[in-house]
Amino acid sequence: MDYLQIQGPTKLSGTVTISGAKNAALPLITLTLLAHNKLTVSNMPEVVDIKTLLKLLGNLGASYTLEDHILTMDTSSVNDTMANYDIVKTMRASILVLGPLLARFGHCEVSLPGGCAIGQRPIDLHLKAMEQMGATITIHAGYVHAVAPEGLKGAHIIFDKITVTGTANVVMAAALAHGKSVLVNCAKEPEVVQLCEILRDSGIDITGIGTSELTIIGTGGKTIDMVDFEIIPDRIEAGTYLCAGAITGSTITLDKVRHDHLDAVTAKLEQMGCTIDITESTMTIHPSEKLKHVHIITQEYPAFPTDMQAQFLALATLASGTSIIEERLFENRFMHVSELQRLGADIMLNGHTATVIGETPLFGADVMATDLRASSALVLAAMAAEGTTNVHRIYHLDRGYEDLEGKLRLLGAKIERLKE
Ligand code: EPZ
Repeated sequence: MDYLQIQGPTKLSGTVTISGAKNAALPLITLTLLAHNKLTVSNMPEVVDIKTLLKLLGNLGASYTLEDHILTMDTSSVNDTMANYDIVKTMRASILVLGPLLARFGHCEVSLPGGCAIGQRPIDLHLKAMEQMGATITIHAGYVHAVAPEGLKGAHIIFDKITVTGTANVVMAAALAHGKSVLVNCAKEPEVVQLCEILRDSGIDITGIGTSELTIIGTGGKTIDMVDFEIIPDRIEAGTYLCAGAITGSTITLDKVRHDHLDAVTAKLEQMGCTIDITESTMTIHPSEKLKHVHIITQEYPAFPTDMQAQFLALATLASGTSIIEERLFENRFMHVSELQRLGADIMLNGHTATVIGETPLFGADVMATDLRASSALVLAAMAAEGTTNVHRIYHLDRGYEDLEGKLRLLGAKIERLKE
């Protein structure tokens, strides 16, 4: 297995180009199952999760090419509706094939995605919505069996909780349903917004885009003529690099970024004493002389994103005073705490709240990545720590960050990928 070796403390400088958003690309790839035409998608992030989902669609019969961030996709030859365990177990976002397969073929068999490190990650809200649209759902031998022989019918669906991939799945199912669907308490993440915009641009009557209530008039089972498009920039990758500037006390610029997707993150960095200059497609962070403590509460968009919680927890270890970090979305998203403590961080965990005593010097050590965003937090802390840090199990990182060590090396970090 690979690991990253990082020398700290280090200063960074220069410009980093942000890749396309993994969490926008995943539902947009499964959306192509609703299309009868071949299409091209640009700014596709070349990360493991994307390649895993493309492999799944290939197994179903789709044909695609992915070269230099350009995806061509043709799902007209899809002739299978079983998303099997060996792929789904490696990436729970595979559940995003459920809505499209059910809507297009009237049935599908999707392996139940297990839980994951950060929480139980149920899909009950996805399934309840499909049943409301007329599907019969049974769980057997670890698989969701969904059937809707007459197709799906529009429904009035109120999500008990705000769910990002749940909203995406139901939006895609509703696009091919018979009649009107009204979806209430939808996720408003930019990734969901782009999915709705591509559906609109592909001829689907969808209103309320960007709000928590979406109204969709389905095609009654007819597949769509899907437009070519470009994936939006990855706001979490961007936020991670902003934290890289803040934690190393460096001025760096991010290119090809949507600053309007990062308002809550920018606000917290400014509360901690950093300043951020923005233009149409760039953000430049100027670090704070002395980082101030912060209070973070993770909530659904547009509030502070849970996917940036680990990175800010690492940042808070250097801030003056005591910071409070509350994780409100996932029940087990503090596994990076014990790894940060190995670097010297002084953090107290109490249920969903981490209390971080600031101004604790960090020293290099061997640490272990536990999930995607925790891994990036360890890399950030390692760049501020005195000495050598080895971050193990970085397959977690490779799932969602494109060439992290290459991009950081270009900024001046002393980081290399080695073999165990
Ligand atoms: C998406 O996961 C993201 N993944 C996650 O990013 C992100 O952390 C999460 O949204 C929250 O923003 C992708 O987009 C591929 P949810 P998702 O359904 O859709 C509960 C990363 O690092 N819930 O919005 O799976 C659930 O347990 C990943 O890139 C139900 O109870 O998250 C959680 O407490 C990690 N029943 C809350 O809702 C359901 O049926 C939010 O989950 C569905 C969700």
